[in-house]
Amino acid sequence: MASTLLKNLLLSLLVVSAGFWVAKASDPDILFDFVAPANSTNNFDGNYFTFIGLRGVLFNNTSPNFKVTKASMVEFPALNGQSVSFAILQYPAGGLNPPHTHPRSAELLFLVQGSLQVGFVDTTNKLYNQTLQVGDMFIFPKGLVHFQYNANTPRTATAISAFGSANAGTISIPTSIFTTGIDDVILAKAFKTDIATIQNIKACLIAPKA
Ligand SMILES: *[C@@H]1O[C@H](CO)[C@@H](O)[C@H](O)[C@H]1NC(C)=O
Ligand SMILES: *[C@@H]1O[C@H](CO)[C@@H](O)[C@H](O)[C@H]1NC(C)=O
Ligand SMILES: *[C@@H]1O[C@H](CO)[C@@H](O)[C@H](O)[C@H]1NC(C)=O
Repeated sequence: MASTLLKNLLLSLLVVSAGFWVAKASDPDILFDFVAPANSTNNFDGNYFTFIGLRGVLFNNTSPNFKVTKASMVEFPALNGQSVSFAILQYPAGGLNPPHTHPRSAELLFLVQGSLQVGFVDTTNKLYNQTLQVGDMFIFPKGLVHFQYNANTPRTATAISAFGSANAGTISIPTSIFTTGIDDVILAKAFKTDIATIQNIKACLIAPKA
C-alpha cells in the first residue's frame, strides 16, 4: 500500500517534471559542459568563450537601412548547445525590420536608443503592437510574425535582442515569398492579384537597396 503510494507519487513527480522540461525545452540539451571547437586539441582557452564581434557596433551606425548584427552560434561557436544568443538591431530614421519569424525562439527586445514601433500577429491573426521608449522591453513569442519600425523620428533607434536559442533562425516574409522562385501564377492567386503586380513586387525586392 505504502509502496504503491510512493510509486504513484514518484510517477506523478516524473510526469510533472517531464511536462516542465517539455514546456521549457528549446534547443536540445547537451550531455557535456559545452561543445568544444570541432578541431580542438584541448588547448583552447577563454578566448573561445569570448565574442568581440560587437565591439564598435553600438551607437555607431552609418548604414542608411535597417541593420542587424548577430551573435549566434554561427558567429560565436561557443553558443552551440547553450540555448542563448543576441542580436544588435539598428534603425536609422524610417528604418524597417520587415515582417519575419524566428522558427526556433522567442525574441526579447530591449530598446536602448530612440523609439520604436513594434508588433506581432498571433495564430488568430490578431495584431499586438506598441511604441517603445528607451528602457522598454517587448517579447515576440516564438514563431510568430513580427516587425519593428523607426517611424517619423529624426533619431536612430537601437535595440538589443536576446533569443532562447543559439540559432533562432530568421524567415523574412517578403524575401521567402517573393525572391525564392515561387511561380508568379501561384503568388498571383495567393494574393488575389495579377501577375504584373507580383512581378513588380519581385523586381522591387530583388533590386539593390537604394
Ligand atoms: C581550428 O580551426 C580554425 C579554423 O577552422 C582555426 O582558426 C584554429 O586555429 C584551429 N584550431 C586548432 C587548435 O587547430
Ligand atoms: C564605427 O564603425 C566603424 C566601421 O563601421 C569602425 O571602423 C569604427 O572604429 C567604429 N567606431 C567606434 C567608435 O567604435
Ligand atoms: C498600432 O497599429 C495601429 C495601426 O494598425 C496604429 O494606428 C497604432 O498607432 C499602433 N499603436 C502603437 C501603440 O504603436
